[in-house]
Amino acid sequence: MSERFTGRVAVITGGASGIGLAVATQIAKEGGTVALWDLDVGKLQIAQGESGASYVHAVDVTDGPRVTEALAATVERLGDVDIMVTSAGIIGPIKPISDLSYEEWRRVCTLNLDGTFLSCKAVVPGMRERGYGRIATVASIAGKEGVPGGSAYSASKAGVIGLTKTLGKELAAFGVTVNTITPGPTETAMVNDVSPETVERMKSTVPMGRIANAREISEVICFMVSEDCSFTTGAVFDASGGRANY
Ligand SMILES: NC(=O)c1ccc[n+]([C@@H]2O[C@H](COP(=O)([O-])OP(=O)(O)OC[C@H]3O[C@@H](n4cnc5c(N)ncnc54)[C@H](O)[C@@H]3O)[C@@H](O)[C@H]2O)c1
Repeated sequence: MSERFTGRVAVITGGASGIGLAVATQIAKEGGTVALWDLDVGKLQIAQGESGASYVHAVDVTDGPRVTEALAATVERLGDVDIMVTSAGIIGPIKPISDLSYEEWRRVCTLNLDGTFLSCKAVVPGMRERGYGRIATVASIAGKEGVPGGSAYSASKAGVIGLTKTLGKELAAFGVTVNTITPGPTETAMVNDVSPETVERMKSTVPMGRIANAREISEVICFMVSEDCSFTTGAVFDASGGRANY
């Protein structure tokens, strides 16, 4: 087994479930020291055992001061953070814009976009000062294509892509890379919430004819946050089974 992450400290937001948990497990297996940040205290305890994470911190990533506290507590326990993966996110209600309330719109955008901004903002000064960092944000194919009924989700993920491209350029000269991934439908709690008919419809949009498993997405993210990914920043990595056109 490769030891790509030996000596590295990684924070995974939304790390108690799905894609975040898969990334955490893989980084820990490959020698990294992992902190899971998540809203769900119960799931965090289980995920720590499952993933081999060294530390868990219950935090709402939309709450700026609590994110700052989470970082301070993580650094105190594990040392400086080298890797940040922002996987906390929700799909939110799927309905046409005429039926979507402003509050529903804000809830999705606040978590998916503001939560990503706050998580990145917390770790960037230290990474920049030390001259090394790897940040992977988690967008979605919905942010490239737009998905009918998913205006808030699609817009928030397009925002994540724009934020990532910007940070990639801002930090390019400081040894800190910032990249994003745009997964297609992936088998996690998020997809378990939708009807079997919707899952079938999702599959029909994927040239490979199936949805991804979380491990397939984490393989790409782990490359994105490894030292090997040294000359790529502000980039959008596809993981859509052949669906994406760009
Ligand atoms: N599953 C898919 O089909 C799919 C496809 C493309 C992109 N994504 C993206 O991947 C990311 C992970 O999704 P997943 O499928 O693993 O879902 P998931 O529901 O399994 O995991 C999301 C995690 O985020 C946590 N979370 C929610 N609100 C939070 C908050 N305010 N603060 C901290 N943690 C919070 C949840 O407790 C949960 O553990 C999301 O950003 C999602 O948009 C998922």
